[in-house]
Order: sequence, then C-alpha cells, then structure tokens
Amino acid sequence: MKKKVCMIGTGYVGLVTGSCLAEIGHDVICVDKDKAKIDVLNAGGIPIYEPGLKQLVDRNRKRKRLRFTNNIKEGVRASDIVFIAVNTPPLPDGGADLSFVEACTREVASHANGRKLLVEKSTVPVQTGERISQTLQIIKTSGQAQLEVASNPEFLREGSAIEDFLKPDRIVIGVQSKWAEKMLRDLYAPLKATVVVTDIKSAELIKHASNSFLAMKISYINAIAEICEKVGADVTQVAQGMGYDARIGKAFLHAGIGYGGSCFPKDVSAFIKIAEAIGYDFRMLKATETVNTAARESMIRKLESVLWTMKGKTIAVLGLAFKPNTDDLRNAPAIDIIGSLLERGAHVRATDPVAMDRMRTIYPNITYCKDAYETAKGADGLVVVTEWPDFKKLNIAKLKKIMNAPVIIDGRNIFDPVKMAKAGFTYQSVGRPLLTREGLKPTTLKVVT
Ligand SMILES: NC(=O)c1ccc[n+]([C@@H]2O[C@H](COP(=O)([O-])OP(=O)(O)OC[C@H]3O[C@@H](n4cnc5c(N)ncnc54)[C@H](O)[C@@H]3O)[C@@H](O)[C@H]2O)c1
Repeated sequence: MKKKVCMIGTGYVGLVTGSCLAEIGHDVICVDKDKAKIDVLNAGGIPIYEPGLKQLVDRNRKRKRLRFTNNIKEGVRASDIVFIAVNTPPLPDGGADLSFVEACTREVASHANGRKLLVEKSTVPVQTGERISQTLQIIKTSGQAQLEVASNPEFLREGSAIEDFLKPDRIVIGVQSKWAEKMLRDLYAPLKATVVVTDIKSAELIKHASNSFLAMKISYINAIAEICEKVGADVTQVAQGMGYDARIGKAFLHAGIGYGGSCFPKDVSAFIKIAEAIGYDFRMLKATETVNTAARESMIRKLESVLWTMKGKTIAVLGLAFKPNTDDLRNAPAIDIIGSLLERGAHVRATDPVAMDRMRTIYPNITYCKDAYETAKGADGLVVVTEWPDFKKLNIAKLKKIMNAPVIIDGRNIFDPVKMAKAGFTYQSVGRPLLTREGLKPTTLKVVT
C-alpha cells in the first residue's frame, strides 16, 4: 500500500533509500539541511557518485513520486513515515556523535501533526530508540501529534546500493506495536524480502553486530596474510580453501590494506564504546582495529623496504576512494597513505575514476592524473590502493616502460605475482610470496628450528 514518506538526510543512504522507496511506488520527500545539496538535486544533478542513481532519481522525479527540499516542516507534515537518515560520525573518543540524530528528532517533534512513525535508519548505538522517545516526550508536539519510534537499520553497500536496496538479504525492523510493524511491512511489501521483526534494541544491535563481524572477518584474513608473508604461503589459496566451508563462506576473505569507509571504522569503534559504557570489554573488536591499522601501515613499510628512502622519490597512487564504484573518501586508506608519503618527502601522483575532486579538497597540491598510465609516468614506485576494475586490466609491459623503476606495492592483490615477476617487476602484494624473476622462488622462506 502506497505510503507517504519523509527521508531526513539526503546523503549516501537517504538519497538512495528515498529514491528506491519512490521506485517501488511510494511518495517520497527527501529533506536535507545542506542547501547546496538540495540545490544540486533540484537542478537535476546528483551530489554523490553511485551507479544507476541518476536514472533512478530522474525517473521518479518525472513520475512525481520524489522531491527534494530544505524544509523539514513540509516533509514531516506531508508524511506518515519519517526516516532519520542523518550522519552519525565518530567522536574523538570513538563513540558515535548522535547530535545530528538528536537535532533532527527535536525538529520532527516540533513540526509533527497527526500519527506518524519515526524510524531510525541511521546506524545508532543500542538504546538510541529510548533516547529518541524521551526527546519526543520532552519537546511538546502539537495536541494531536502522536509519534512512535521504530528502528530499520540499513545494510546497503556504496557502489551497489540500489541493487542492495531492491534485493536485500533481509530487512530488519525493530518495533513496539503491531501498527508500526504493519506500516513497515506494507512499506517494503513490494520487495518480497525476508523481514526480521524484533524489538528496537535488538534491531539496533543487529546493525552494529553485523558490521563489526564483517570488519572482524577482514582483519582475520589480514592477520592470516601476515603469517603467510612470514612463511612464504599464499593467503589467496588459504582463503579459497577456507571459503568452501559453508560455515565460513567465501565473502570478506580478501586480504588487503584493511577496511575503510564511512561505516566499518566508525561502527567498530562505536560498538567498543557502547560495550565499555555498559561494562563489557570488547577485546575482540579492539584486536580487529589493531590488525586493521597494521594492515594500512604495511603499504608504506613495504615501499620503504624496497625503495629505502622516500625523499624526492615519485610515487604513483592508483585509487583514492575507499573502495571501487564510489567517490566516498571517508576514512579511505588513500588519505593516510598519501599523508605518510608526503611526510616522508615523496612526490605523489594519483588517479581515481571518480574521487579526485573530493581528494583535491584534502590534498590540493599533489599531481592528479587522468589515468593509471599518466600517473605511472616517471614513477619510482607505484601503489595500488583501490581495486577499480580498470586497474586490473592494465598493460604491465607498458607500465614498466613508462615507470622510472619497476616497483609495485599492490595493496589489493589485483595482479598475478608470477606474471609480474616474469615481467621484471619488484612486486609485493598482501600475504603472497615474493617472487624473483629467475627461479620464481619465495624469497621470504625461513627455516625455523
Ligand atoms: N554510507 C553507507 O554506506 C551506509 C550504509 C549503512 C548505514 N549507514 C548509516 O546511515 C547514516 C547516514 O549515512 P550517510 O553515509 O548517508 O551520511 P551522509 O553524511 O552522506 O548524509 C547525511 C546527511 O544528513 C544531513 N543532515 C544532518 N543533519 C540533518 C538535519 N537535522 N536535517 C536534515 N538533514 C540533516 C547532512 O546534511 C547529510 O547530507 C549513518 O548513520 C551511517 O552510519 C551508512
């Protein structure tokens, strides 16, 4: 049944979710306090890079099911279901900054009329629903307003967000009443997805527990990669052998330079903080963070092990976004890696299919190049930071010709070590043996007595 929806926060989650809800037949108003963002959208643009999003927004705007405004009062009053999809960034101590959620709750409370469901879509610590209810009670709504809180965490992944929304593994709804359950079941009915109905606190925990588990899986394989490097084994083969076990699964067993992005780092640290606040020392997640930091730092360590000093060297950086198919740079490994290179006096040349404009605001003075070949020109070393599909198809003979020295540190294991060694590269990847041109023998093998 068609619903009237207000999506507060028109960022990576709110814009995709709002547009997808319009796509499945609902009337959606997306609200954001950022005037520039709404102006871009109202002028027909898209403020973020997400495959397929422009077509989706254009289509639903034409159907008059989707509109954008700065006016939260208008959005709230016109809707039966109001989503909070604002940012919940990390505080300096690692906890979640809930001030945007709070501000948004207060605004909804002050404008609401009639009966509405207020749904947490933002990733929030357990017990936030109680805080939202408390705030609603403090801020007096108009006489007839009746607001009920629910939780509906989001699991979409940037880069495949539309597909993830339209074909979810599951939809989690945390509710306090049959009415709220029916509102959300009706909303998502066109997707014909598995719906998990819980209380609000459990729904909040499902999100943090899921993201932390995935981050832990990444750190686990990165720890295995460290061991592989020490003994000359191949982590990709280990991961493959593990992944056939249905209890383990193949996903998230790709060794690399660790997780980044706007979700895993902040959600893991927020979960550690929440646990601490309620008296549980989440040691497993602390170790996950430690392994992740080490994975990120390994790239510079490997580069220095080959190039010795960095001062005056030219380093090519392939990939800036925290993962392919997005322009999101929040907590992207590239930021730390470029920072470390600059600190050491290296000249940095970089490229990324969609994230260079955003990176220019962080590092305006490095050299941005149109593609990988231009980036590699004259470089003393090249680092692969993001596994964009185009980088996997590079002509390595051509790359070798244009580089000053054939040195590649591959943080995403996108090249075949045997081919790279045969082509004459000094090539180091993650958790795979070092190969020499002659014997293709592991050079790291040590006999332990
Ligand atoms: N990005 C992801 O892949 C992803 C996936 C799942 C869950 N989440 C969670 O979803 C939430 C949103 O993430 P995001 O990546 O979309 O963030 P974002 O920063 O891209 O977007 C948040 C938007 O909210 C707006 N906003 C903040 N306060 C507001 C207010 N009071 N009124 C109106 N607009 C307001 C901001 O201007 C911004 O445009 C976070 O809690 C995040 O953890 C993100």
